[in-house]
Amino acid sequence: MIVTIDGPAASGKSTVARLLAEKLRASFLDTGAMYRAVTLAALKAGADITDQDQLLSILTNSDFKFAVKEGKMIVSIDGVDVTEQIRDAKVTANARNIASAEKLRERLVHMQRQFAAKEKKIITEGRDQGTVAFPNANIKFYLIADPLERARRRQAELKTKGSSENLEKIKMAIEERDKSDQARAAGPLKPATDAIVVDTTHLTIEEVVEKLLDRVEECLKKDQR
Ligand code: C5P
Repeated sequence: MIVTIDGPAASGKSTVARLLAEKLRASFLDTGAMYRAVTLAALKAGADITDQDQLLSILTNSDFKFAVKEGKMIVSIDGVDVTEQIRDAKVTANARNIASAEKLRERLVHMQRQFAAKEKKIITEGRDQGTVAFPNANIKFYLIADPLERARRRQAELKTKGSSENLEKIKMAIEERDKSDQARAAGPLKPATDAIVVDTTHLTIEEVVEKLLDRVEECLKKDQR
């Protein structure tokens, strides 16, 4: 069973995917972490992040590992745990270059399919999971939320990590990321034609998870008939 959750930055996809996976006893894949990991490796190597060949060579020559441990996605590069480092603001700001490298996307999508093939049930989240990576997924969701609400959520998350950031600045950065995610030629951010669009602006995380869970259970019942 493959469930895809796509949507713009800070729409709550990762948290929802993780909690839904817990409820369904499924595995989950945070594909944004893959783009972030390649970004971090490229920055560390001092590579030209607009050069696809350099990025591909980094992907080929480094050992990237993505694993789920105690409900958390653990990322390591060449044996070094970079789970926290890939969340750095510098990585976030540079990930768009990596995300628009077509050949690199193809390789990452291939890795995502390999990851999913090993699992009986998987919840996978990102931007192109329902459109490109898993067009035949059992059920597809597309989460949206008002940019200001997304900025508030991101601000609250930053606060828990001890950092503070101006709300308007966060909102502008989120909208900029949306634009760049929607505009790229390969794997752009958009709902699959058969995706269920859920507006989470006025919903709590628990309410979103319940909503998605209901739809997944409905779908499973239909498949059993
Ligand atoms: O979801 P997250 O913010 O961690 O994603 C980091 C970056 O990776 C995003 O800015 C987005 O451009 C890119 N991404 C992507 N395709 C995916 C997942 C993430 O292009 N499936």
